[in-house]
Amino acid sequence: MSDHIYAHEHPESDQVRGGGFTLWFTGLSGAGKTTIAHLVGPELDRRGHIVEYLDGDTVRTHLSKGLGFSKEDRDTNIERIGWVASRLTRHGAAVIAAAISPYAETRRRARELVEEWGAFVEVHLATSVEECARRDVKGLYEKAFRGEIKGFTGVDDPYEEPAAPELRIDTEEHEPDESARIIVAKLEELGLVPAQVTA
Ligand SMILES: Nc1ncnc2c1ncn2[C@@H]1O[C@H](COP(=O)(O)OP(=O)(O)OP(=O)(O)O)[C@@H](O)[C@H]1O
Ligand SMILES: [Mg+2]
Repeated sequence: MSDHIYAHEHPESDQVRGGGFTLWFTGLSGAGKTTIAHLVGPELDRRGHIVEYLDGDTVRTHLSKGLGFSKEDRDTNIERIGWVASRLTRHGAAVIAAAISPYAETRRRARELVEEWGAFVEVHLATSVEECARRDVKGLYEKAFRGEIKGFTGVDDPYEEPAAPELRIDTEEHEPDESARIIVAKLEELGLVPAQVTA
């Protein structure tokens, strides 16, 4: 099929607007990715960034609608997020990706795409399965433990912890707003976000 696709012949713009980067959250369901993303995002807004969220749940209702949770579909979902993140990074946005992204190799490919245009800051929200199951915001762990959902990350599907993320935060030790502060401080340290103006 791909023999009939001529994407390589299409001109690509080489215009880049600086200042873009991708903040990539990874962690189990219930680790706090969405919660913390929505604390970090408004702070980046306040500091003048154009923020775009690529949240797993949202992406799966639009860009990845119809994909399931096989390894192949999970990888396709993450590759799509990586590709869009890379495009937006090129245009100077602060992209906040928040999907479980369980496979190291697929995260690496997303990193590679983004790093053509800007920084990729991987944040591992390290939260134990026990704690995520205790939170069980969506009631999914209970179903997974009962066997009503198969292939649930951390229960009967793999989660490959990042070996060298830019940041690892144990959410059992930090409240969400503290985690958000740690992340914004890291972005400042990396020179990606201007320091807060304290007039
Ligand atoms: N210290 C903490 N850090 C982050 N979230 C916490 C913490 N303590 C409790 N929570 C709660 O845990 C839940 C985390 O859910 P959230 O939807 O953010 O997870 P997620 O990683 O986006 O999961 P999913 O992959 O299913 O989308 C929220 O209800 C949040 O209020
Ligand atoms: Mg979420």
